[in-house]
Amino acid sequence: MFFSRKPDKTVEHLAGLVAKYYSLPIEETRPWCRQDNDKLVVTLPFCAATQHQRLRQHIEDSLQAKEIHAAVEVTQQIPSAQTKLPGVTNIRNIVAIASGKGGVGKSTTSINLAFALQQEGARVGVLDADIYGPSIPIMLGNTSARPASVDGKHMQPIEVGGLVANSIGYLVPEEDAAVWRGPMASRALKQLIDETHWPVLDYLIVDMPPGTGDIQLTMAQQVPLSGAVIVTTPQDLALADAQKGIAMLNKVNVPVLGLIENMSYYQCRSCGAKEYVFSHGGGTKLAERYDLPLLGAMPLDMQIREHADSGAPLVSAEPDSPLAEAYREAARALSMTMSLTLSARTDETNIKGDPIGVRFQ
Ligand SMILES: Nc1ncnc2c1ncn2[C@@H]1O[C@H](COP(=O)(O)OP(=O)(O)OP(=O)(O)O)[C@@H](O)[C@H]1O
Ligand SMILES: [Mg+2]
Repeated sequence: MFFSRKPDKTVEHLAGLVAKYYSLPIEETRPWCRQDNDKLVVTLPFCAATQHQRLRQHIEDSLQAKEIHAAVEVTQQIPSAQTKLPGVTNIRNIVAIASGKGGVGKSTTSINLAFALQQEGARVGVLDADIYGPSIPIMLGNTSARPASVDGKHMQPIEVGGLVANSIGYLVPEEDAAVWRGPMASRALKQLIDETHWPVLDYLIVDMPPGTGDIQLTMAQQVPLSGAVIVTTPQDLALADAQKGIAMLNKVNVPVLGLIENMSYYQCRSCGAKEYVFSHGGGTKLAERYDLPLLGAMPLDMQIREHADSGAPLVSAEPDSPLAEAYREAARALSMTMSLTLSARTDETNIKGDPIGVRFQ
């Protein structure tokens, strides 16, 4: 009896430590914790690989203070969120990066967030849903890449720095797609999703076009979205558009996972002072009004633009910079929010394994 209860007590203690570390109730962290022989294992349901070592150290120190000497392992396993529509083959979660307004930085945020999630240990793909104005091939610096096809029916996604991507920009010249009518653009988007041989992905990040038109409706009604992130700039006009985006997503029952305020402030390189070029606090207010988490606030920064425009996104080109860390923080917040707020799919029958020919990382 004594022996069978002892591990439970230790695991309970472990769950308490993890709960305190993340400021969560213990009911939340209990399922993450187990004892495996003489090892204590914490399996986080979100990606935070850069933080594992710190958490492990914190747990070991706290246990040692209680005279408990056990090896601790921290690992992660990202669940699939439940969706009404059946899952796309090999994709656990599809996350749309949207905004009501154009030019607020959806594509820049999508690509940097994708690399940030990957640096946190997730397997990530990027889908460019902007059929009329694809940006992803430019931002990945591979506009002349073309998806190969092994079977003549499916496309191999383009691989870049440990990510996979697909975009209409890899398939047809921009001027061709620009004249397509709505239904044709929607069909092209569905094909990009369904006819790409995706490897097993924790997240497919979808860079949405601006506005609330056909493509947005197709995404919301025909694609099993786990949820959407709204990108906004802090000024009134962009916020009004962000509200339209939130309203549309609410109407079609796509969970809004949180907000990212982009071009939040400008920080002077020489003196470090912050200037709120596009007004201040708008994202926070919007987040409060809709009871949504503010996942991140990215500065207006020349490096972000230069890297995006030159085909080497900041997070992948300068992973050690404070800006890359800010994107990783947003990525961890997104992943954690998803695991805490969305119910997990009970079966993962759509996860078939990596198709032959796709190397991932
Ligand atoms: N935080 C930032 N700091 C500096 N420049 C930025 C930032 N975010 C985006 N940009 C720049 O702003 C421009 C617009 O960004 P982006 O293309 O990502 O916006 P978008 O919302 O995807 O636009 P569209 O609605 O046309 O798809 C780009 O030149 C990009 O490099
Ligand atoms: Mg864009």
